[in-house]
Amino acid sequence: MINHNKKCTIGIIGCGGFIGYHLTKRILSTTCWDIIGIDYDSHKIAEFLGTDRIKFYQGNYTENNRIESIVANCDVVFSLASICNPSLYNTQPLDVIKSNYNDPCVLVDACSKHHKWLIHFSTSEVYGKTISSFKEPGENHREDYVLHEHKTPFLTGNVKAQRWSYANAKQLLERYIYAHSYTHQLPFTILRPFNFIGPKMDYIPGIDGEGVPRVLACFMDALLKNQPLSLVDGGHSMRTFTYIDDVIDLLMIILQNSEKSKNQIFNVGNAKNEVSIKDLAKLMLKIKNDILCVSDERTLKLQTIDIPASEFYGAGYEDSDRRFPDTSLTEEKLGWQAKTLLPHALRVTMEWFLNHYSNQNQPHKTEEEICYDKV
Ligand code: UGA
Repeated sequence: MINHNKKCTIGIIGCGGFIGYHLTKRILSTTCWDIIGIDYDSHKIAEFLGTDRIKFYQGNYTENNRIESIVANCDVVFSLASICNPSLYNTQPLDVIKSNYNDPCVLVDACSKHHKWLIHFSTSEVYGKTISSFKEPGENHREDYVLHEHKTPFLTGNVKAQRWSYANAKQLLERYIYAHSYTHQLPFTILRPFNFIGPKMDYIPGIDGEGVPRVLACFMDALLKNQPLSLVDGGHSMRTFTYIDDVIDLLMIILQNSEKSKNQIFNVGNAKNEVSIKDLAKLMLKIKNDILCVSDERTLKLQTIDIPASEFYGAGYEDSDRRFPDTSLTEEKLGWQAKTLLPHALRVTMEWFLNHYSNQNQPHKTEEEICYDKV
């Protein structure tokens, strides 16, 4: 049992990313636990690296036999490191499969050998497409689109549709973890995230990353540059967005309820926050104008452009049509439901992006100052 006031060591593989940042911050501010972290990139977590409660390794966790000693010295290990960017699934499929299957197998082996609890971040993308997407709209029932951990089949595409390289690698890793649990009693928890959003998510191309990030950062990039927002295939796909603070609440509950959490697979999503990508674009434009106090009719006009997926992502891209989670399992076992509604989650996230990226070389501003400096 892990307790807030009892010393223990948490391993975070991939601690330098968006989820790693928020998890590290919460652990350091609300517990007395130590962290052993590893990532090839540390810029998001630079503010924490001075503390002696973090031992941080920079680099790839599969190199130099590091993972053995990290795992051996932790009480529980979070597995967060992965390429999870759809623009790379069909353009760099070998890197995607290596990062989401071959590399983490080394981590699973080490956790199994040392009998350490592995909390692995999988993906809601393992479900692929919904049964609904194969039916006429009038023929659909709830069970055709609600994604349940143990009832819903995984429906991805053919081998040439390389979009599914990621989902299939993640599926096989889930099976590898489960096989280790079955054969060697590896204690595990598998989490399937449904589109987490919050400050520090992804990057803005040309500033702190390159290429095409996920939709929230793509839209922020366009909004920062006053350019039209791209709607892939018209923006008809549906997503449910989950605010990062709710997610971190769940992780803390999981850590303190190990008996109820071990050997479980949980969807981590917010079914109240379902929106089409087209409506997400409208909502984000409205929130941006609210934050910046813009009321001019011309700037309020929504600017979007429709773009075919083959043009935006290249050949081999297909989409998950809808990601609507059944969230009853986390509620039943752990009493957790995500509570932050989409408008608030977006507003907090967008304030952070506007503040952080509009003023790259200046001190960050308060919300009032952003409003005052309206464009
Ligand atoms: C991605 C990952 O593949 C999942 O593993 C992960 O769970 C998920 O993000 C997540 O954030 O949790 P996806 O939702 O398809 O999955 O990723 P996005 O790039 O955020 O795309 C969402 C939708 O927006 C897609 O339909 C995409 O085609 C569309 N999109 C994206 C646009 O219409 N315009 C853009 O500029 C970018």
